[in-house]
Amino acid sequence: MKTKIFLAFFTVILTALLSNFIFEWLIMRDFENYISGVKEDQLYWITVSAESSYESGKWNLDILSETIHWAMIMGIDIKILDLSGNEIISSHKIMESLPHVMKNGMEGLFHLHTTTGIFQEYPLYRRGKIIGTLSSRPFQKKEIAEKEAVFKKRTRNFLLISFLIAGIGSLIIALLLSQYLSKPIRNLKMAAEKIEHGDFSVRTLTKAHDEVGKLSDVFNKMAESLQKEEKLRKQLMSNIAHELRTPLTIIKTQVEALADGVITDKEKGLENIDGEIGRLINLVKGIEDVTIAEASFFSRLEETEINLKEFLPGVTAELLPLFRDKNLHIEVLDDKDLFVTVDVEKLEIIIRNIIANSLKFTEKGGVSIHYGIDINRFFIEIRDTGKGIPENKIPFIFNRFYRGDKTDSHGLGLGLAIVKELINVMHGEIQVKSMVGEGTSFSIFLPLSKR
Ligand SMILES: Nc1ncnc2c1ncn2[C@@H]1O[C@H](COP(=O)(O)OP(=O)(O)O)[C@@H](O)[C@H]1O
Ligand SMILES: [Mg+2]
Repeated sequence: MKTKIFLAFFTVILTALLSNFIFEWLIMRDFENYISGVKEDQLYWITVSAESSYESGKWNLDILSETIHWAMIMGIDIKILDLSGNEIISSHKIMESLPHVMKNGMEGLFHLHTTTGIFQEYPLYRRGKIIGTLSSRPFQKKEIAEKEAVFKKRTRNFLLISFLIAGIGSLIIALLLSQYLSKPIRNLKMAAEKIEHGDFSVRTLTKAHDEVGKLSDVFNKMAESLQKEEKLRKQLMSNIAHELRTPLTIIKTQVEALADGVITDKEKGLENIDGEIGRLINLVKGIEDVTIAEASFFSRLEETEINLKEFLPGVTAELLPLFRDKNLHIEVLDDKDLFVTVDVEKLEIIIRNIIANSLKFTEKGGVSIHYGIDINRFFIEIRDTGKGIPENKIPFIFNRFYRGDKTDSHGLGLGLAIVKELINVMHGEIQVKSMVGEGTSFSIFLPLSKR
């Protein structure tokens, strides 16, 4: 990550460098074009001026010498030749004709005698006819050449320095930024490694509100739920061990007593053993249900369409014998078609667990079931005429291992925890109303159709 960000910046800098070179090249080219353009203009002007000094077969030497003067000031060494190649006038001749002091001064300016280089020849015309030749070459004017060189050098230096400042600056920024950007990711990686080694207490510190911040949030939530699960798992294991020990101890002593002949009432002994085995079976069933409920966190909902009118009586019919044994009734009071799309297996576990509690905590009367629609949800209400739940206990009944009556030998206190977990997975809601001595009603609300 760090290297990637850095490389990205580096590419940007490299592009900037390249464009810097192109820019420099363009400036230099423009400068050179400008200079040669100016020179061409000057030469054109000189040519025209020389041509105009030719009138009816004669050269006007006054005009010509003025032209040459101007040319010299512009830095051009000039010779004008007639058609047969004889020199009419030249920069040299003009110089020679000057008074001595002036000549020296001019020489210092133009370096006439040290100027070398090939003359460039241009034909001179008058009324469409060739009248002579103009030869020209630039003076070796040191100052101008130096000035040009200085200009070029300065431009180059300016571009180089500005590039260096920008380049080094952005390089440093790139380094710092890549360090800064990758820091939260590195923290996250370190935290993930800790979790890998079983330390669920790690959290990453996040201040950012960007993607990385969100990722850290999700990570922390994950770590938290892992920690919670780990705690519950340990609790569950110790509870299971504890719950297993009691019936197993009772079975062991009963069997030993039977074998030793200490117990006279064999039938009573066997009944005790059978009861404890039943407890063990219940325990295993409870653990199975917890496993199913937990697994449903990770599995998709298996939704199918059912008609509550047929589904609910089907569930109660299976439980009917147990209710009859206790002289209780169980009935579905509604009788209307209501098609819903749900995970049937989970819905069944939920209803069974709630009804099993009603059966356990009801001594007279029984259970009645209602169902119907509540805006965009459907509800199933299971009401019993049992002993009820004290108001201050209601907040705890969905906790794992919570049992209202610790002496109650049936149950692990897992039933309602499972119910709650499944309801959550199914995006539903559960409500409880209860009056001690009068009864309890559980209402579950679930979405009518697939989400
Ligand atoms: N229908 C009910 N009537 C009275 N008390 C109930 C009812 N349903 C649940 N409870 C209370 O809530 C507790 C938790 O229920 P549950 O999680 O199913 O555990 P368990 O059934 O193993 O005791 C019960 O121990 C009981 O005190
Ligand atoms: Mg229960």
